[in-house]
Amino acid sequence: MDKKIGFIGSGKMAGAIIKGLIKSGFTSPENIIATQKEAEGIEKKSKELGVKIIIDNTKLVEQSDVVFIATKPNQVMDVLSQVKPFLENKNKLLVSIAAGITLKKLENNLPEKTRIIRVMPNTPALVGEGMSGMAGGQYAQKEDIEYIKNLLSVIGKCIVVDKEEQMDIVTAISGSGPAFYYKVINDIARAGEKLGMEYEKALLLSIQTAIGSAKMALQREISMEQLIANVATKGGCTAVGIESMLEQNTEKIFLEVIKSTTQKAHELGN
Ligand SMILES: NC(=O)c1ccc[n+]([C@@H]2O[C@H](COP(=O)([O-])OP(=O)(O)OC[C@H]3O[C@@H](n4cnc5c(N)ncnc54)[C@H](OP(=O)(O)O)[C@@H]3O)[C@@H](O)[C@H]2O)c1
Repeated sequence: MDKKIGFIGSGKMAGAIIKGLIKSGFTSPENIIATQKEAEGIEKKSKELGVKIIIDNTKLVEQSDVVFIATKPNQVMDVLSQVKPFLENKNKLLVSIAAGITLKKLENNLPEKTRIIRVMPNTPALVGEGMSGMAGGQYAQKEDIEYIKNLLSVIGKCIVVDKEEQMDIVTAISGSGPAFYYKVINDIARAGEKLGMEYEKALLLSIQTAIGSAKMALQREISMEQLIANVATKGGCTAVGIESMLEQNTEKIFLEVIKSTTQKAHELGN
């Protein structure tokens, strides 16, 4: 029988996952239930997502086999203390998508031996191109990890990290990553504008080139270095551009970007 999946919180990220689950046929709308904090707008939200939305988190927990915690991080502890009594001896699987909240903190605030998985999704999930990283708690079973990995694959791709500490790097590369890529895409478009092109046209050139290059990189059968070399023929225009990137040491710039973001994610989690 299909599992009943509950979402505590039905905001942007839960909404993206719910829509993906229904659109892909992973499960039917009758198997999904979600909550929100305020009664206002509940009908509209329910219509938008195509699932039942309620206010009562404890009722949701009682009716679900898998419970997603999808509120803002600062609301998670309140939610856990509210639902904890309803999880005692119930053998439900919990999944937290809250940024920065460690498995230890989650486990310490849940009944002993609760099976829990921590997930870091990202906003491109809204267009079915999300990237999630996940780490299992000490009581999560192999089947739990497999089930959630399959579930998250309906909104994009998913990796399981080797150690939970790596979730801070996941936060930097794919959680915050969309903002970094937007910045690079926009910087390239603005450069085109400065050289005399209309911004919107330069932006389209930049965006579509990012999409195409990303697809080629995903499907590559050769190394990333070889992909670069294939475009940057010796003596050609691209080689001059790459030379400029090497001179500016973009590798060092991005090391700093990812390092500082990882550090901040680490601090938030402690
Ligand atoms: N958005 C992102 O880019 C992103 C990326 C990765 C991870 N995340 C994580 O995803 C989580 C949700 O983020 P979001 O952007 O989806 O936030 P959001 O759009 O603000 O949604 C939060 C949801 O939680 C509900 N809520 C708040 N307190 C509640 C309570 N006590 N009981 C039940 N529902 C409650 C809110 O209901 P009301 O509307 O009624 O207040 C709302 O539906 C966060 O922990 C965040 O770290 C987000």
